[in-house]
Amino acid sequence: MPAKVLVTRRQFEEEMDRLRAAADTVVLTRPAPATRPELLEAVRGCTAIFAHITDQIDAEVMDAAGDSLKVIAEFGVGYDNIDVNAASERNIAVGNTPGVLTETTADFAFALIQAAGRRLAESDRFVRKGEWKWFDPLDLLGQDINGSTLGIVGLGRIGSSVAKRALASGMNVVYHNRTQPEDDLGCTRVGSLDELLAKSDFVSIHCPLTPETNGLIGKAQLEKMPKHAVLINTARGPIVDTDALTDALRDGTIAYAALDVTNPEPIPTDHPLLSMENVTLLPHIASATVGTRRKMSQMTVDNILAVLRGELPPDCVNSERINWG
Ligand code: DGY
Repeated sequence: MPAKVLVTRRQFEEEMDRLRAAADTVVLTRPAPATRPELLEAVRGCTAIFAHITDQIDAEVMDAAGDSLKVIAEFGVGYDNIDVNAASERNIAVGNTPGVLTETTADFAFALIQAAGRRLAESDRFVRKGEWKWFDPLDLLGQDINGSTLGIVGLGRIGSSVAKRALASGMNVVYHNRTQPEDDLGCTRVGSLDELLAKSDFVSIHCPLTPETNGLIGKAQLEKMPKHAVLINTARGPIVDTDALTDALRDGTIAYAALDVTNPEPIPTDHPLLSMENVTLLPHIASATVGTRRKMSQMTVDNILAVLRGELPPDCVNSERINWG
């Protein structure tokens, strides 16, 4: 019997053709993610799941797939939507797509630093609403990027690439990591997250979502930041407490936020953040360029095809726990 592969969202056709040549491939092409019952039904008998951030792949989904399931290949570098421990206990490999989206995501995070600092989205709305009647020297004043301090939470691959852009633009960069980064590029290490928050004009989040980073930036942390500070999140929504951030933006605890990720995601259209001028909201598109999303798709398929050949995925996050004899 040919192996069965489930792809949970529409994907690049040429990559789907590579899967179809090797396995029975089911692609869920509806615009909305599968509901829980649909997902539990669709995974039945699969060898591989090509998963997306929109899918919660936990023990129940793995058990619904059955003993045939050998690999969950995430389309993305972050895999917090997958219960890796449950996968390892079932000898299921988990793949992801590190490296390939680093520069694209860093470009986007740095674009948000600039867009938030110079109030671009707000100024665009101002023009469209017909509010631009004359030149006003005191209107829409932003904050300089050059000469200000950027605090990076998580100086890993993406954080370091953002740091390079910031240093080249004349920013000072401080960071706080629990582990020593491979190369700190001339950034200044500070002793604690609180110190980073207090010293930074801009704070950009680049750590993964884990039990330790869930809610890392809440009311107490926002209160440590200067009143003119800008918060950028391109990592994962739950790292920031949405209610605390909404309050902080409303009462002037901090000046501005630019969020590519939110909690919940998508942010409901009646959420108070949507009616506030001092926040820019984007739909989780940091890695969304044609070239990068294509490479991510290719890597996800490579991870699946390796397993269909009996090998571990080339990018496997739990390889040390897999034993296929
Ligand atoms: C990633 O690669 O983690 C992106 O956020 C898409 O999920």
